[in-house]
Amino acid sequence: MCGIFGYAGNADAARVLVHGLELLEYRGYDSAGIAVVCPENGNGHAAGSAGISTAIAAPATTGTISITRKAGGTDSVARLSAAINELDPDGTVGIAHTRWATHGKVVERNAHPHTGTSGNVAIVHNGIVENYLDLKAELVADGVDFISETDSEVIAHLVSREVDRGASLADAVRNSMRRVEGAAAIVATSALEPDRLVAARLGNAGGIVIGRSEEAHMLASDIIALLPHTNTVAYLESGQVVTITSGDCEITDLSGTPGAARFTTSNRSADQAAKGQFLHFMAKEIAEQAESVTAAMRGRVDLATGSIDLPELDLTEEQARAIDRAVFIGMGTSLHAGMHGSSSLEALARIPSYAENASEFRYRQPVLDENTLVVSVTQSGETADTLAAMELARDSGSLLATAVEAEGTQATRLAHTTLPVRCGQEIGVAATKTMVATMVTLSLLAARMASLRGNLSPEQESEIAHALGSLPSLVGDALSRDEPIRKIAQELTQYQDLLYLGRGAQFPVAMEGALKMKEIAYIHAEGYAAGEMKHGVNALISDLMPTIAFAPRDTMFDKMVSNVNEVKSRGGRVIAVTTDDDDVMKSIADDVLYVPRTHDLLQPILNIIPMQLLAYHTSVALGMDPDKPRNLAKTVTVE
Ligand code: G6P
Repeated sequence: MCGIFGYAGNADAARVLVHGLELLEYRGYDSAGIAVVCPENGNGHAAGSAGISTAIAAPATTGTISITRKAGGTDSVARLSAAINELDPDGTVGIAHTRWATHGKVVERNAHPHTGTSGNVAIVHNGIVENYLDLKAELVADGVDFISETDSEVIAHLVSREVDRGASLADAVRNSMRRVEGAAAIVATSALEPDRLVAARLGNAGGIVIGRSEEAHMLASDIIALLPHTNTVAYLESGQVVTITSGDCEITDLSGTPGAARFTTSNRSADQAAKGQFLHFMAKEIAEQAESVTAAMRGRVDLATGSIDLPELDLTEEQARAIDRAVFIGMGTSLHAGMHGSSSLEALARIPSYAENASEFRYRQPVLDENTLVVSVTQSGETADTLAAMELARDSGSLLATAVEAEGTQATRLAHTTLPVRCGQEIGVAATKTMVATMVTLSLLAARMASLRGNLSPEQESEIAHALGSLPSLVGDALSRDEPIRKIAQELTQYQDLLYLGRGAQFPVAMEGALKMKEIAYIHAEGYAAGEMKHGVNALISDLMPTIAFAPRDTMFDKMVSNVNEVKSRGGRVIAVTTDDDDVMKSIADDVLYVPRTHDLLQPILNIIPMQLLAYHTSVALGMDPDKPRNLAKTVTVE
């Protein structure tokens, strides 16, 4: 949610910054902007000023800040890039921002970077300043004129006021951030210290990753923007402030006490951020799912011995047996993956389990203790509500695990145990491959816990291990059945409402199918437990609302047949999703989509694939951009 990027080096900053924004665009695209510090000789107060407490030597020059911003549509980064090509601001230090609006309309005056009144300082911000009305009132009383409707502008004025009073940029940021309540990640630049940037992080408003290359230091919301330059990175902690120049990097806390940047080498590569031959990232990521499930299983499933291991789950049999309750928390698609994890864990390991939306869980005063296993599901490791729920769980003494794609992020630092899903970064806003990789990882968790607790016989474990072994080829098979889905997608473009029905293990699939359709095709869709139909939703059945019914040949099949018949007898159209071993649905439903048959535990993983394709093709047929759904962002770092 909002992408920020900063560069202090020797290259043309504007071009580096725009490319950084292109890579961060998935975090928000309501507006985009950059500020480049164009150096000029002068004798600003920075050089030799007594106000400068940073150990990095004071610069000998001052500069001017050149700002370019574009707002509206979903192509603000592209329009910013065109403007930069024309303006060509000259400088090697600058900051950039791509916005997902929280405060203030999507117009240029609300786009970042924001400046203070004197124009000496520019900042970019990700997060929410909760006390911004109080701070704004104080600044207005002090004679400050506000230009935007954003909460972020108060930070620009606070920092600018400090700088105008003689503080160094680093001191100004520290002093200002001590006054901010809420969650904030900021990067600031000053015309008086044109060789450096200062960044700060408060709470869980998205991370700041520091990158170091031979010729530059950089700051970004996500490592993905740094990878074209370096994979030597360090993470800024909450409450830390960092000053970077091309050659130096210095960390302190908010009171100025020095800290250390712990640089490590990431094994991520820049290729993950390229669409390759695909029209959209979403199509590429759907197509990658056979590899995603393989990656999630690597080293964890032994087909020779028919055994399942999850080495990251460092529990003894005794510790596993002591767990008497499990809670899966997450948001959006991750919540649906967590629902699958919870029902799998309960079914196999016989641990009472449930899944809950993290934003509800965190405010509900849930009963948690040291015998509770809390599993957070968050592909980004950054979702604000999920992180807050994790903090609650950790403070309650529960055992906290996280299933995550982005290792090194805040979720992995909060959890006692990280279960990497390993499918590689996902760029498309609508989650696809991270969901299937997470479902595989959580299936492994369920099987491993069951085995540790003595609830899984060697035969059952071997059966699941072999089903997992065949999963990549079955995923490939499911993906190849695209043509009938494309045809149905074309027909769905004429409807405004859809119903997705499932029971048991297919209920999360129904929820996820509906979510995908809402997110990227903007068609109202409800995911429902089929058994609930008679308690209200039957009243809505008509030829105006097709029903997508998940009816694999599992233990719930006969029940689903009844539900499908009920919809048909009330004049509804039914698209059934069933398994290859069924020959009943074709005589009842209007259309049938077949998926390969696998173990009941893994069947939802295959069933979700046609739903991803259906939403994708419907979105494209409606002329929408599935990678950039309106009003949404990939990573929701604010509450
Ligand atoms: C946003 C994304 C979804 C994602 C959800 C949770 O809403 O658009 O695709 O499922 O956040 O994200 P997380 O990173 O915690 O899995």
